[in-house]
Amino acid sequence: MEEKLSVGFALIGCGLMGDRHAQVLSSITNARIISAYDLDESRGKNFSEKYKCQYSSEIEDAINREDVDAVLIASPSYLHAEQAMNAGKLEKHVLIEKPLATEIESCKSLIQFFEDKELNLSVVSQKRFHPDVQSLKLALEQNLLGEIFLFEVSINYHRDDHYFEEAPWRSSGHESGGGVLMNQGIHYLDLLLWMLGPYKKISGFTKTVRPDYREEDLAVGIVELVNGTLGVMTASTVTYPNSPEQLSLYGTLGSCTIVEGKGIVDWSHKDGIKQPEFKNDLEIPKEIPSKLFSMYRNHSDFVESILCSKETKVPVRESMAVVQFVKDFYEVSS
Ligand SMILES: NC(=O)c1ccc[n+]([C@@H]2O[C@H](COP(=O)([O-])OP(=O)(O)OC[C@H]3O[C@@H](n4cnc5c(N)ncnc54)[C@H](O)[C@@H]3O)[C@@H](O)[C@H]2O)c1
Repeated sequence: MEEKLSVGFALIGCGLMGDRHAQVLSSITNARIISAYDLDESRGKNFSEKYKCQYSSEIEDAINREDVDAVLIASPSYLHAEQAMNAGKLEKHVLIEKPLATEIESCKSLIQFFEDKELNLSVVSQKRFHPDVQSLKLALEQNLLGEIFLFEVSINYHRDDHYFEEAPWRSSGHESGGGVLMNQGIHYLDLLLWMLGPYKKISGFTKTVRPDYREEDLAVGIVELVNGTLGVMTASTVTYPNSPEQLSLYGTLGSCTIVEGKGIVDWSHKDGIKQPEFKNDLEIPKEIPSKLFSMYRNHSDFVESILCSKETKVPVRESMAVVQFVKDFYEVSS
């Protein structure tokens, strides 16, 4: 069989994230955007002009092409499962925006289907690819902070009315899968489970503060992990002003705090051991803005996984685990 040198993508959903994905994919040497589909035809056409790809007025026509190897799904969350399954049936690899799907049964069916077909299925999890997050993960793998007994996470955003009005699906529980936990909190919850391991018990409260909003825009939780670590978390889209996400880990040998946009702001070790350095082995093109560096690493990994027939660095079962975490949180707080 001829060796594949680049991955052709169909992009489904040309909104806020679709545009970011396209910026990134068009700068990856061995990726090409071939086609695009959006339910909103004028948006899809503008996008296709901007990124010099083919707009199809039918989703299947965008995907079912020989030059398309993979599909990137950036449509509203309730569509992820069905669109990914259809792409899989057309023998395409799939990279989906978070969440993998809004229902656990759909996550399971997708995972089984893609495993049986030996196709790659992965969820965009760009925060895992941030150099400071990678450095902290390395520190944990090397047990530098000792036994972690406490974590604190705060994901306290402010999303204004415009954010919900410009895309009404964002405030529909059915279409987005929930409120702040499923839509914003999920990134840091994913980091927690990835770094510290599975959870055992959650207790928490959710609340709707914004008058015209139906889902939770505030969540406060206490979590016990299987390894005994205890943690507290808050997530919100209603606190003012928008605050950077923050994660602190406390271990028997030291502690570490990461703040979004600032990186590791505090690393303290009883014996003065420094945090491990993240070795950057990927050159990022100049045209990529710094806020998309982690996305660039994420997508490069997905492209490489297809070209080299290997697993991505974001195993899809871990992406299902975080959806389950959110569902369990909803269950205990209802
Ligand atoms: N990774 C991240 O940091 C991040 C951030 C924000 C959103 N997201 C996720 O990305 C996805 C998209 O979010 P967004 O903020 O870009 O939304 P958006 O509303 O800006 O864009 C969604 C696009 O999908 C289109 N669409 C609607 N129905 C469609 C259909 N049936 N088929 C194809 N396209 C359809 C809409 O017209 C719109 O252009 C969501 O799943 C969201 O959870 C991820």
